[in-house]
Amino acid sequence: MASQAAYVAEKAVGHGDNAVTQQDVSNYEQTGADQTMKALVWMGKNKVEMADVPRPQILEDGDVILKVTGSTVCGSDLHLLHGTVIELAKGDVLGHEFCGVVDRVGPGVRRVQPGRRYVASFQIACGDCFFCKQKLSSQCEKTNSNSAAKAMYGGRTAGMFGYSHFTALYLSDVLSTSYNCVKDTAVYPKDQVAIFGAGPIGQMCGVFALAEGASKLIFVDTEPRLSYVAAHLPAEHRDKLELVDYKKLSHGVTARETVVSRLKELCGGRGPDVALECAAGEYAKGWLHWLEMATGVETDTSEILNEMIEGVRNYGRCGVTGVYVGYTNHFNVGSLMQRGIRLIGNGQAPVHKYWDELLRMIQEGKLDPLPMVSHRVRLEDLDKVYYKFEAREEGMQKVYVETKFSAPAAPGCPALTTYS
Ligand SMILES: NC(=O)c1ccc[n+]([C@@H]2O[C@H](COP(=O)([O-])OP(=O)(O)OC[C@H]3O[C@@H](n4cnc5c(N)ncnc54)[C@H](O)[C@@H]3O)[C@@H](O)[C@H]2O)c1
Ligand SMILES: [Zn+2]
Ligand SMILES: [Zn+2]
Repeated sequence: MASQAAYVAEKAVGHGDNAVTQQDVSNYEQTGADQTMKALVWMGKNKVEMADVPRPQILEDGDVILKVTGSTVCGSDLHLLHGTVIELAKGDVLGHEFCGVVDRVGPGVRRVQPGRRYVASFQIACGDCFFCKQKLSSQCEKTNSNSAAKAMYGGRTAGMFGYSHFTALYLSDVLSTSYNCVKDTAVYPKDQVAIFGAGPIGQMCGVFALAEGASKLIFVDTEPRLSYVAAHLPAEHRDKLELVDYKKLSHGVTARETVVSRLKELCGGRGPDVALECAAGEYAKGWLHWLEMATGVETDTSEILNEMIEGVRNYGRCGVTGVYVGYTNHFNVGSLMQRGIRLIGNGQAPVHKYWDELLRMIQEGKLDPLPMVSHRVRLEDLDKVYYKFEAREEGMQKVYVETKFSAPAAPGCPALTTYS
């Protein structure tokens, strides 16, 4: 529904002409490529397939072609799988978190060298517009010609790989995103922090919130995710951890126990100082939002946002990093106003702003992304893995996808699981 609405909006307002790159190439059939490569492609709502697709070409002076040596699956990929993200077309190549060895570069590329290893950011950024100059790469003004998004949001955002028809690995997205969520919302020493969604983003938000000095971490999610984060959080911080299983609680206005009442109980009656949204707007709990989304009356549920707003203490902060795509109903703006709640959209994370700092933290041994990696799989199995990740089967948290170009597994990496 959302994608249909976006197509209509795009038709009404027309395609922008100030994009400097031709990022809507997500299929290279017309470029004369005769060699093929393996890729995961979107074939429609809830359907992905492994396919042989034409190899990419250098189309512009600044292009780089990377032989992918590692990739991952992300909660954002589920929004694409479910068709909730606008502007995806049948046959689009999926995947936005990847690293590899440079194969070829365009004539305008100066710093990137063939044969060397690089990590790509999940957003495509020009490097010299108003936002890129401040390293706010996710808001690049020149890499997304989609005017539907501009019309709906009131401002342009960058083109994303495997997104919106434009088409150290974890710097690509998950680490930068969770770091941005914690930094942008602000977690201060001794803060009590509730994290909605205990997927890889929520888990790493927990790690970064502890590094800022959080005194309590409350994960709101259900199984198997709650047990996974509990088992993988640094041992010295386990006493700060509380788990809230939202499936075991009521929701909405009720006298029974809810996520909100549990948060109050766990934080001295007032509620946590901070709540971080690491789930997504597409996950409705009750039938009302489910129905409204199914009929196109709204695109996103406000249930999690309301739980965060009502749950935090007066003047508390709520950061939204989980993906929301449009409009929502039944939003508790009264609680927000009366209790002085700061609701902060964290944006798609500006990866360029953080990745040098995060790489240094990994190199110095201060940050370890491996506790969130539960599985190592082969590219050939990626379609099957998508459905398993969606169903959270086998305790899947974060998946590392290897290709025929991958180096041998690093120490601490999970053993290879195959599915054929
Ligand atoms: N802003 C950004 O730059 C950015 C970047 C990457 C990912 N994301 C988004 O962040 C979100 C989390 O990513 P992930 O990879 O950890 O995803 P994920 O799908 O692995 O995890 C989401 C978790 O939310 C939980 N959840 C669903 N409904 C809930 C509810 N009502 N209350 C509490 N928890 C609930 C699910 O059980 C799941 O464990 C996704 O929406 C993803 O698209 C945003
Ligand atoms: Zn991602
Ligand atoms: Zn830019």
